[in-house]
Amino acid sequence: MNRRTTTLLASSLSLAAALAISGCSSDSGKAADGKPELSVSGAFMPEPVNADMAGGFLIVKNGSDTADKLTSVTSPISDDVQIHETKNQKMQQVQSLDVPANGELKLERGGNHVMFMGLKSTPKVGEKVTVELHFQKADPIKVELDVKERTHNPKTH
Ligand code: CU
Repeated sequence: MNRRTTTLLASSLSLAAALAISGCSSDSGKAADGKPELSVSGAFMPEPVNADMAGGFLIVKNGSDTADKLTSVTSPISDDVQIHETKNQKMQQVQSLDVPANGELKLERGGNHVMFMGLKSTPKVGEKVTVELHFQKADPIKVELDVKERTHNPKTH
């Protein structure tokens, strides 16, 4: 084994050790009742292309050491709000999406998203759509999605 390989090996070993330590760290960052602390940002809905279906996008941030899952979404404008993931450019319904500890669940164009089926009304640009996010551990969070133009994509701004 030459010296360079040895150095690389040593640094990857110390990285693994550091990860292992943070992996079993204490309860710091947990709320007093043990529930993860989640916050939501950047929530929007592109104005629906057809009157029947719409997508919703947002970011759930988990500032705690406890992993959680987004398990369902409810909204006054649809009785059938689904959680979708996109794989190989095809979307499919999933039962839940992970909100990693000290990480983010990103619902964004081309990826995971909320899907509103059978819209009761057609939201227009400038309006707001209320949703309630339900989690496995954390309390439900109410969020307002800003209805944006159809091509709106925060990543390109
Ligand atoms: Cu979808």
